Amino acid sequence: MTTLQNKRIVMGITGGIAAYKTIELIRLLRKAGAEVRTVLTPAAAEFVTPLTLQAISGNPVSQSLLDPQAELAMGHIELAKWAELVVIAPASADFIARLNVGMANDLLATLCLATSAPIFLAPAMNQQMYAQSVTQHNIQSLQQRGIQLIGPNSGEQACGDVGLGRMSEPQEIFSALLQHFSVTQDLVGLNVAITAGPTQEAIDPVRYISNHSSGKMGFAIAAAFAQRGAKVTLISGPVNLATPHQVTRIDVLSAQEMWQIALESAVKNHIFIACAAVADYRVAEVAAQKIKKSGDEMQLRLVKNPDIVSDVGHLAENRPFTVGFAAETQQVEQYAQDKLARKKLDMICANDVSNGQVFGAEQNALMLFWPQGSASLAKTTKTQLAIQLVNKIVERYKAK
Ligand code: C5P
Repeated sequence: MTTLQNKRIVMGITGGIAAYKTIELIRLLRKAGAEVRTVLTPAAAEFVTPLTLQAISGNPVSQSLLDPQAELAMGHIELAKWAELVVIAPASADFIARLNVGMANDLLATLCLATSAPIFLAPAMNQQMYAQSVTQHNIQSLQQRGIQLIGPNSGEQACGDVGLGRMSEPQEIFSALLQHFSVTQDLVGLNVAITAGPTQEAIDPVRYISNHSSGKMGFAIAAAFAQRGAKVTLISGPVNLATPHQVTRIDVLSAQEMWQIALESAVKNHIFIACAAVADYRVAEVAAQKIKKSGDEMQLRLVKNPDIVSDVGHLAENRPFTVGFAAETQQVEQYAQDKLARKKLDMICANDVSNGQVFGAEQNALMLFWPQGSASLAKTTKTQLAIQLVNKIVERYKAK
């Protein structure tokens, strides 16, 4: 029996060309034993037919709030109560906006307002529409209300544009839903602080020194802990990522700022994970005014930043279980082992960045070392890797 056996899923489809992919998603869910009832917005019915969806889902398709026949079969409130999960794929910009303001002007929006089931959105739209501040605002506000996002992906779009806004593939959405039903809230009571992303070291009011860290790994770890019920504080440098569901996020810019917040947080948490790519040096004298172009050369004097994870590792009191990362281009194990000892860590997660693939990539692999042992996690998506890493961290934390 799969985790999806007999799970009652409402599949909402809104108007978008990606709706054709939802047919495959419904097929995957049905194959895994889930019961699927499909709800179409009027615009969605222009892209996929109720007949196809009815045949694939094995259930009647609901389309209208004011259809007496449909309401007789299963009314919108009944459908909202029936659902153990609501997934909207594709979720258009229009639907996301309506959901955010609490409209109830079609069956799907009404159902979302009337259900207490978790709601997942798989956005699909033109990259410019997705990037608009109003869309981003709507998405963030929905996430703060507990609605979960799957994707979108980046790539070529039906309109010919290239960018972020493609709906996630059916298999990815299926995996996220499977994950939702598989996760147990076994980490309630555990407090975790995580640093993520790059830092920005100011040169003058308009310039800074930074690095290519995307923050994806740290955010994925935060999400994996939060899904299992842990209380997560995510201390993030400047990144372009949505805050994971039920994670408290504190934004910082410089290494010094991150150091201050991280040390305050570390002593209040059971586990501290340093995933951030902290700048090792900062500019000694930050210019108060924009530096003017003058000679052919210029020199910046840099001074060392505090090593956050090392300071946490060396705490004399209230020291959390401390995990560091090491991105190495050579002698990965040797350098990682050296950092484990020198920074007084309980675990170090090493990745080989010699091929330049890790920063910003969707996939990664890790080698884990702790004082008495090691393990390796094979290359997979950062989301999956984070789930496996959290298992290992919890295992070591409990063993200690
Ligand atoms: O020494 P290195 O920078 O390679 O060590 C990487 C690990 O140390 C990462 O866990 C990183 O988050 C952490 N670090 C830190 N503060 C610094 C530099 C690195 O917490 N100033």
